[in-house]
Amino acid sequence: MSVRHFLTLFDCSKEELQQLIQRGIELKTLRQQGTSHEPLKGRVLGMIFEKSSTRTRISFEAGMIQLGGQALFLSPRDTQLGRGEPISDSAIVMSSMIDGVMIRTFAHATLTDFAANSKVPVINGLSDDHHPCQLLADMMTYRELRGNIKGKTVVWIGDGNNMCASYIEAAMQYDFTLHIACPEGFDPDPTLMAKAGKHAVIIRDPKEAVKGAHLVNTDVWASMGQEEEAKARMLAFKNYQVSPELLDLADNEVLFLHCLPAHRGEEISHDLLDDPRSGVWTQAENRLHAQKALLELLIAPGLK
Ligand code: CP
Ligand code: NVA
Repeated sequence: MSVRHFLTLFDCSKEELQQLIQRGIELKTLRQQGTSHEPLKGRVLGMIFEKSSTRTRISFEAGMIQLGGQALFLSPRDTQLGRGEPISDSAIVMSSMIDGVMIRTFAHATLTDFAANSKVPVINGLSDDHHPCQLLADMMTYRELRGNIKGKTVVWIGDGNNMCASYIEAAMQYDFTLHIACPEGFDPDPTLMAKAGKHAVIIRDPKEAVKGAHLVNTDVWASMGQEEEAKARMLAFKNYQVSPELLDLADNEVLFLHCLPAHRGEEISHDLLDDPRSGVWTQAENRLHAQKALLELLIAPGLK
């Protein structure tokens, strides 16, 4: 059997993506009940972080421990990756010793190169192009707080970045319509937009885009690796801040999500995370539960 990876949301079927949400909710309940569940006893996940992280690192590390396994934090600075050992060689060696590898990196090709040479599942913990694990948590959060997202209107406000790309894929896989409000020059990948067809449409004006929306999302204006563009981006995105007043234009039941970290006073107003329509803290916690479901699927299918 060929090894399974999770580099984008297209590495799972629509049915599997629904099951991951359902299983994430079940695992959350088990944890809340204090029930121990250790299907990954003796299994080891390597975690390569080329960029900073709070949520992704903690959720994968804690998740592996809770499932009975272990996680290894591998920074390029302290491994031979940082001294130029080829990705392909690293993948052969690492995957001969451990049971799965999570990678947070810059170029998406690092993930595909690693996966092509890995005997064990590779998970995308964020690349410049995609952040699929965040979408598992986001979809689980919408399901828990509002119900089925099928047929709903979701709005992405801000940069057409890695998160936006994963939302476009989610629109296709979970069957909703995505309105993308981004300034000109910051559009998402046109190839992905063409693939999405009617599932994703650009509506430049955030006020227009949020009309009737059931879920509103935003993200930082300068992603990791774009620090030098931060000043120019502040200007380009100044009309794209999400505030309670903007949410007032959406559906009465609208939910606001942000993958975090957030910059109050930039992409969100100072008061937005205190608004009852914000679900960001549940969303952040759900990284843990949704990824535990993913780890079960990839590392111990059939063992749960
Ligand atoms: N949302 C998210 O991926 O957070 P971290 O960068 O803290 O992992
Ligand atoms: N777009 C952001 C997401 C952080 C979780 C970044 O890539 O920095």
